[in-house]
This record gives sequence, structure tokens and C-alpha cells, in this order.
Amino acid sequence: MSEQWWRDAVIYQVYLRSFADGSGDGIGDLAGLRARLPYLAGLGVDALWITPWYPSPMADGGYDVADYRDIDPVFGSLAEAEALIDEAHARGLRVLVDIVPNHTSDRHPWFRAALDAGPGAPERERYVFRDAPNDWRSVFGGPAWTRVADGQWYLHLFDAAQPDLNWDHPQVRAEFRDVLRFWLDRGVDGFRVDVAHGMVKDPALPDLGADPEGLVEPPGRADHPHWDRPGVHEIFRSWRKLARRYGDDRVFVAEAWVDSPSRLARYVRPHELHTAFNFDFLRCPWDARRLRSVIDSSIEALGAVGAPATWVLSNHDVIRHVTRYGGLARARAAVLLMLALPGGAYLYQGEELGLDEVDDLPEAVLRDPTWERSGRTRRGRDGCRVPLPWCGDEPPFGFSTGDPWLPQPARWADRTVGAQDDDPRSMLNLYRAALRIRAAHPAFGDGCLSWLDSCPEVLAFRREPGVVCVVNLGPEPVPLPPHRTVLLSSDEPADELPTDAAVWLAI
Ligand code: GLC
Repeated sequence: MSEQWWRDAVIYQVYLRSFADGSGDGIGDLAGLRARLPYLAGLGVDALWITPWYPSPMADGGYDVADYRDIDPVFGSLAEAEALIDEAHARGLRVLVDIVPNHTSDRHPWFRAALDAGPGAPERERYVFRDAPNDWRSVFGGPAWTRVADGQWYLHLFDAAQPDLNWDHPQVRAEFRDVLRFWLDRGVDGFRVDVAHGMVKDPALPDLGADPEGLVEPPGRADHPHWDRPGVHEIFRSWRKLARRYGDDRVFVAEAWVDSPSRLARYVRPHELHTAFNFDFLRCPWDARRLRSVIDSSIEALGAVGAPATWVLSNHDVIRHVTRYGGLARARAAVLLMLALPGGAYLYQGEELGLDEVDDLPEAVLRDPTWERSGRTRRGRDGCRVPLPWCGDEPPFGFSTGDPWLPQPARWADRTVGAQDDDPRSMLNLYRAALRIRAAHPAFGDGCLSWLDSCPEVLAFRREPGVVCVVNLGPEPVPLPPHRTVLLSSDEPADELPTDAAVWLAI
């Protein structure tokens, strides 16, 4: 089954700017990542997803790509990227890169050519230029249209520095197939597809009327003119065919914010993408009844198309879950829940250290375009992107020899890798133990679960052969079901399971 490694893989998201800085300029880079590969292999993950590393003006942290076939000098060079891929493989880690097909940077040669060529020129047809805008809104706030000097307007569902491509244009389709081949030829194991649900627009560009603006809002209606259009699926079928020529082990992961598990399942039908982030799980509050319903509907909808379920608690776009859930105890329980569920899981760098959201960054350092585009009403996503604390008692905590691009809070002194390394009760060692047990025990990963009788505030389920996971979300301790041994516990193992704790039992 190793060709289908992705069906139960644990994939670690590296937000490159904030992972580790090897050059001393305060920005994470490939040198820093290469030096920390032993840490990642020791953590026990199967693969890395690396956020965009391409040449970029960094208007949106690199999700504004100016050249899809190179590496931004701030991160390193193409030769270093190739070395990283080889070194990761040598340590048993697969590598996924982020592909950003919905939009380019406004510095991309195609957009420069479109501006130079003027209204009506074929160069404009690779983007969405019109003489008048409609009422669509940017995810980051404000209108989704910007006017250029000659009077025409162009569409950007994100920042004005991120013009949307026209996916009805054959050159756009051909270009991205070629970009995929470029990275597959360099040995990458797959791609995370940015804004997979946004690439195709209704060509009539109808007004929306009243509709949500937010990044995390689902489309809310079946015939939305720019989210989750049926036309995206044909593109993904052609990508799957292309990747298959490199072997069945090259994979795609969809970032698709859609309305329901059944809409998500459409992205991972046979011959389309392999897996998709489960944002319904990520958005679910710490509530047993609601979690159980998301777990059931995810497994059912994805299983119906033959795809594995996946689980995710945090990423670079959302508030870290230690903060969302309100504390480390719940975060410890949540990861045991997530890693016991059938299918694959995504970890976001720093969650294994128990990092919380930095919600008091000074306004002067905020970089997320959301801040300015929302008229400084939404602070944006910088608070979950603060550079990792590696060692030492004060910032920069071994992240860099210079000043980190976002300041780290002094309170992270007890959350560094160094502080947690030898502490058997640390979050880091809980993750290490959980990943070790999960990889070694046949009950975990792909497969199914059966729920056990429990009170409504407890999640208790069985995986075969012979493992039970119990999570207590209620206010009172609960007795443990009969078992042989405790495989792992988010709290001190005892006869009862305290509030906000989880346990893996061998029965
Ligand atoms: C995705 C990325 C997000 C980025 C947006 C635009 O949602 O995860 O960080 O801002 O796409 O590319």
C-alpha cells in the first residue's frame, strides 16, 4: 500500500518565513529548514508541505507568485530547493509544494504584459479585465476590482497585487501543466492546491447581491459565481492524469472552502485530487455532539467517493487552536482525537510546541494585507505566523541571529523545542509519542471507526484491532472503559479521565 501513502499520512505544514532562519536576516529560509530536517524526521511526520517559496513581492506572504519556476532569493536558490528535496527523501520525508493557480502576482510577466498591451489586447485575456466592475468583494476586504491607468478594471478575489487568472484561457491551462511538470521533474511528491475552489468564474460575472466576504465563509449557495464552480473539476482531472505519469504516489491536496462534506468530496472523486483539507473539522468548536457529527459526515461523504478522510486543527490562515479552544489541555486532547481518527492529518508548525495565537502584535508590524484592505478593522493572520521558538530564554529563541520578521512573545520561553525536549510531559513529547504509536500500531490510519456507548459529552470510539480512544469534553471526570493498557494519555494516566483529556487504550 505504500503507493497510497497519502491515505493515512501525517503531513507537517512548514510556513517557510517563520520556520527557521539560516541566513540571519530574520526571515526563515531553505538553509534553516535543511538544518532542522532531523527535528522533523524525529517528530515522526511522513511529509512536509512547504508554503510558497517562489520569487514574489510578498504582498501576501508569497501567495503572490511572480515566477513559478524559481525560488525567491530571501528563501535561497533553486539548487538549495533541489538539495532540500533530496535530503528530505533521504530521511524518509516526502515533500509537497504549494501551487497557486487562482492568481499571479501583479509583477508576473503576464500581468506586466497585460498592462502594457492595453484594452482589447490578447495579453489581457489571460486575466479578467472589464470596462466596469461588478459588486464582488475581496476576501481580504474592499472591492475585488482595481482600475488601471487606461480605465479598465481587473478582478482580484484577494489582494490587488494578486490578479485572478482566466482559467478559460488555453494558455493558462497549458502553463500550469508545465509548472506541475517542472516540480515533478525535480522530485516533489505532490502539491497543495491554493484556492482550488476559486479558479473558475461564471463568465457572465453576475453581481452577488448580499454575500459573505470572509476567507473562511463557505459559499452558502449552490450557484455561486466564483466559489466552488463545477468547471474546476475538469482541470483537476487533467492534473491527476498528468501526475499519474510520474507514478501513483504523487499527490494533490485541495484547499477548498466549500459548503459541506459532500461538496468537498467532489474534489477527491476518483481521477481528481487525492485529499482535501477538512475545514469543517477545523471550524468545529470544542463540543462533543458537533465534533461527532462532523466526524461522521466527513467519513461518510469522503468514503462514498473512495477517498480517505483528513483532519486539521490549524494552519497559517486561522487562529491557533490552543487559543481557539482555550488552553493547552484541550489542544493536547484534540491532537489525540485527530490522530486516532481514520485517514490522514495535517499539522501546522508550532502546534507540536503548544504555541498560542499572538494577538497583541503592534500594529506597525502587521503584514497581512487584510489589515489595510479592511480599513484597519481586521488585524488579519499574522498572529499565527510568528516565528518558531527553538531554544534559549528570550527572543529570537534561536530562530535567527537577527531580528525575527515578526516579534516573538517573551512568554514563549517555556515553549521552545529546547525547553520541551527532555520533559516527558511536554506537548512536543506528546506529539512524538502519538506519532510513534500511530505509525507502529495497525489500528491507526486508514480504515473505519465504531462509536462506543458513552454520555453525550464524551467521544469514545474503537479502531481495529483493539484500540479505543476516549475524549472527555464534559465538566466531570469519567471512568475509563475496561482495557489492558494505556497506550497514551493527554493527562496523567489514572482510572478516571479528567475534563478536557483524551486517552488511547489497548483493549
Ligand atoms: C489561501 C492561502 C492564504 C492566501 C490565499 C490567497 O487561502 O492559504 O494564505 O492568502 O490563498 O492566495
